[in-house]
Amino acid sequence: APIAGFAETVVRWQRTSGRHGLPWQGTCDPYRIWLSEIMLQQTQVATVVDYYQRFLARFPDLRALAQASQDEVMPYWAGLGYYARARNLHRCAREICERLDGEFPRRAEDIAQLPGIGRSTAAAIAAFAYGERAPIMDGNVKRVFTRYFGIYGNPAARAVEQQLWHTAQAAIDAADAGLDMGAYTQGLMDLGAGCCTRGVPACAQCPLAAGCYARLNSRQHELPAPKPR
Ligand code: ADE
Repeated sequence: APIAGFAETVVRWQRTSGRHGLPWQGTCDPYRIWLSEIMLQQTQVATVVDYYQRFLARFPDLRALAQASQDEVMPYWAGLGYYARARNLHRCAREICERLDGEFPRRAEDIAQLPGIGRSTAAAIAAFAYGERAPIMDGNVKRVFTRYFGIYGNPAARAVEQQLWHTAQAAIDAADAGLDMGAYTQGLMDLGAGCCTRGVPACAQCPLAAGCYARLNSRQHELPAPKPR
C-alpha cells in the first residue's frame, strides 16, 4: 500500500465526494471547531447540528461560555448524553479565559492539555483551525489505516496504537507543504464514516481502493483485527 499520494488522494476525494455545508465547516474559529468536535465525539452528525446551533446562539464565544454557570450550560446539552463532555467544555472555557487570557491554544500539543481533550480531538481542532500537520486517529480513521496499510493486531493495544499514530504522521510527512489539512482531516473522517465502514466496506466508492492492502488481498473482513476475548 503506497504512502506516496495517500493524503492527496484523500483531499481530492473530500472535495468532490466528502461531507460539505455542515455548520462547523467553513469557519476557522477555534471555539466553534472545538465545540463541534466535542459534540461529535459520541454523537451522530444529524443529531449534533441542532444542538450546535442552539448552543452557539446562547454561548457565541469562549467568554460567554466561561461567564455562564454550569447550571446554565447543562440544559443546552440535555439529550446529547455523555454529560462529562459538557462539564469539561465549561471547565476548558474557564481555564482558557482565566489562565490563557482567553486565547485558545494554537498547537495540538497544547490543546491536548485541556480537560477532556485527547490527542486526536486536539489534532482535529489544530488541523481545522490552524492547518497544523497533526494526525488524527479515532475509531473510524483506525479502520482506514489498518485496512489500507495492512496493520494487524488489536488497534487498542499500545504497540499497535503507536504504529497507527506513526503511520498517520508518515502519511502527512509524505505529502507536500501545500497539503490542505482541513480537507485531509475531514476526508479521513468522511471515508471512515461513509466508505470504510465496519462489516462490508464500500470499496467500489473508495478513492484509496487501488492501493489498499485489505482490498488487494481480500482482507477487509479481518481488519481491523478484533479485540482478543
Ligand atoms: N466526527 C468528529 N469530527 C467530525 C467532523 N468534523 N465531521 C464529521 N464527523 C465528525
